Amino acid sequence: MASIIDGKQTAAKVTEAVAEASAVLEREAGVKPGLAVVIVGNDPASHAYVNAKSRMAKQCGFTSIQHSLPEETTQAELEALVASLNDDPAIHGILVQLPLPRHLDSEPVIQSIRPDKDVDGLHVVNAGKLASGDLSSGLISCTPAGSMILVRSIHGADLSGLNAVVIGRSNLFGKPMGLLLLAANATVTMAHSRTKDLAAICRQADILVAAVGRPFMVKKDWVKPGATIIDVGINRIDAPEKGEGKSRLVGDVDFEACAEMAGAITPVPGGVGPMTIAMLMANTVIAAYRSAG
Ligand code: GUN
Repeated sequence: MASIIDGKQTAAKVTEAVAEASAVLEREAGVKPGLAVVIVGNDPASHAYVNAKSRMAKQCGFTSIQHSLPEETTQAELEALVASLNDDPAIHGILVQLPLPRHLDSEPVIQSIRPDKDVDGLHVVNAGKLASGDLSSGLISCTPAGSMILVRSIHGADLSGLNAVVIGRSNLFGKPMGLLLLAANATVTMAHSRTKDLAAICRQADILVAAVGRPFMVKKDWVKPGATIIDVGINRIDAPEKGEGKSRLVGDVDFEACAEMAGAITPVPGGVGPMTIAMLMANTVIAAYRSAG
């Protein structure tokens, strides 16, 4: 049986270190890290994520500001809010929760965030630094950064000789994850919805990372014996066994079956999810330190 990678415990260690760093910065330089989280519309899952982020920011000793904008917010209003946060010296990190309602175009909003406050690592300046191998001067997207910490907890820092397969090619996760694995010397395959014979490609993976948003997609016979599986999916499915109208969270991986084949595997919930929030806190405290010079 695979060992279970405890993302909750690792995330708690990260946030503890962040809280300490935050206290030192405030004491020594009089700077209290500030995180602004912006959410538009009424999606309950997004509100739950954003509330968790704001709560954790407070726990880390940050100034935590949440802007909940109505569904009918215009592109100009949203960009005006980002502009005011860009200019606010008490704010070091800005996160606009995605996805935005359909009438809004997320890309210009993301690109309007000052790169040094882009704690999501999505601005082209930050994405470009990562793509060109600069892993230190920008800000790196939280979910891939957190997933890498979990990979390193199993394999160490150098992934030389290991095959990594990432399923999913989004700007938010798949692309930066592939780049981070590559920077750690893994041999990386980026798979996606147009990939042929995905199962055979996945069977080559020493490190298999799934980020597609389809419950139970990765099956036991896709898994190389002893592989490390990082499950980035967060899918809510009906759970009649828990009672009428109940639901539960599952990943993209058929966890029970794949755990019989893998060497190590992240659970959902309690794997990558807590790491995403922890790395958002880490990025915010880094941005605040940089602002203090
Ligand atoms: N929606 C789901 N994950 C994320 C994330 O990491 N950042 C933002 N901004 N939105 C998300």
